[in-house]
Amino acid sequence: MKIAVIQGPNLNMLGVREQHIYGAMTLEQVHNNLDAAAKQNGVELEFFQSNLEGEIVDRIQECLGTVDAIMINPAAYSHTSIAIKDALSAVNMPVVEVHISNIYRREEFRQKSITASSSAGIISGFGTFGYHLGLISLIQIVNEVKAINEARAKEENK
Ligand code: DQA
Repeated sequence: MKIAVIQGPNLNMLGVREQHIYGAMTLEQVHNNLDAAAKQNGVELEFFQSNLEGEIVDRIQECLGTVDAIMINPAAYSHTSIAIKDALSAVNMPVVEVHISNIYRREEFRQKSITASSSAGIISGFGTFGYHLGLISLIQIVNEVKAINEARAKEENK
């Protein structure tokens, strides 16, 4: 199983930016920990971070046919980007949106995620541990979809 991990703007500043909100770990540390957890579950992760909306759209489109699922923290673009929302819907695969902070207890402009409606679910407010929750969720979803498809194929071959 392959999962793309896509990180939006300013997440390259983790460990430096607003530590009281986003914690002390750098993005590299978060990714290393996540990669170790993924490997234990036989999952391969592909990491990507960009501060540019179009690059994130391109990366999402590249997921088609190359990975089984997407974990994305669109960061500030969550609140503004119809383009990222549309790209996530276009690739039509399991998506989990992760936010390090609880966006519902922050400023009003953060309390709406435009991109979230293109995901199976969102995880928000558990710090960087949210990426681990996202990983577990996606493994479960991908396995469920696989089991349903296998059962359907078996039924059709009867
Ligand atoms: C964030 C929340 C966003 O509102 C913010 O713009 C971010 C990070 C989070 O992970 O909590 O950059 O997505």
